[in-house]
Amino acid sequence: MDQPASTDHLSSAVIDCLKRRASVRAFTTEPVPDEMIEAVLNAAKHAPTSSNLQAYSFVVVRDTDTKAILAELAGGQQHINEASVMVAICADINRLGHVIEIGGGSLAHGHLEMSLVAVIDAALVGMSASLAADSLGLGGCMIGGMRNDPLGVAKALGLPTGVFVAFGMTLGWPAERPPSKPRYADEGLIHWERYEAKPLDILTANYNADLEAQKVTTGRADGVPWAERLAKGFSQPKRTELKAVLSELGFDFE
Ligand SMILES: Cc1cc2nc3c(=O)[nH]c(=O)nc-3n(C[C@H](O)[C@H](O)[C@H](O)COP(=O)(O)O)c2cc1C
Repeated sequence: MDQPASTDHLSSAVIDCLKRRASVRAFTTEPVPDEMIEAVLNAAKHAPTSSNLQAYSFVVVRDTDTKAILAELAGGQQHINEASVMVAICADINRLGHVIEIGGGSLAHGHLEMSLVAVIDAALVGMSASLAADSLGLGGCMIGGMRNDPLGVAKALGLPTGVFVAFGMTLGWPAERPPSKPRYADEGLIHWERYEAKPLDILTANYNADLEAQKVTTGRADGVPWAERLAKGFSQPKRTELKAVLSELGFDFE
């Protein structure tokens, strides 16, 4: 099937929410009520989950001191301090192990599949929470910086073996809502029926230009094209100790 020229005539509340969303890193000082956090996480848990394992947990952090520790561990990300809440989205095979024992078995450890399942479950529930929060007027940002020092984060949050923070999610009332960032063209991302070669030189040049144009309108132009920024940041492996550290926390990626 050919890609339609425009899909703008197909809209819904969810599609609109997704298309206008953007990471928020500036918040008012107004706290987010606990019942709102509960409503968001309660909705998010209806996300699909592998074999209904629900291999994730949330740790909701409102305490200023704990947020400060997490902000530091994430590389000094000040917006974590400013957010009313930082939700640690955890891959959790600890509870699963207990449930399986209650069911009369024991969780098979030491395999990649279980670790992947827990991370995928965490990702799906995290994005669902983000969308639910957005729909209530809240804003926030995912925090991969939680994987800078997973052991430090585990200590700060009292995580048992079998739990690690896959990523964080700040939540608060936006002081400013940035415009939604352009994305790579559908043509480069969507393959119909079979994966095929795409004109990546042209598509990447176009995307570099789209992003730069938006940065100019928001006063954030830095003259560094997207592809160049990725080349600078990702030509060397990152967080090389992660495999060993996650193994210490009970997750194998062998
Ligand atoms: C798993 C994940 C981890 C992220 N980690 C961070 C982070 O540590 N700090 C940060 O400021 N933004 C972080 N982000 C936000 C991304 O930079 C952002 O989503 C991306 O630039 C696209 O912009 P947008 O969300 O406004 O569309 C993260 C996003 C994801 C999905």
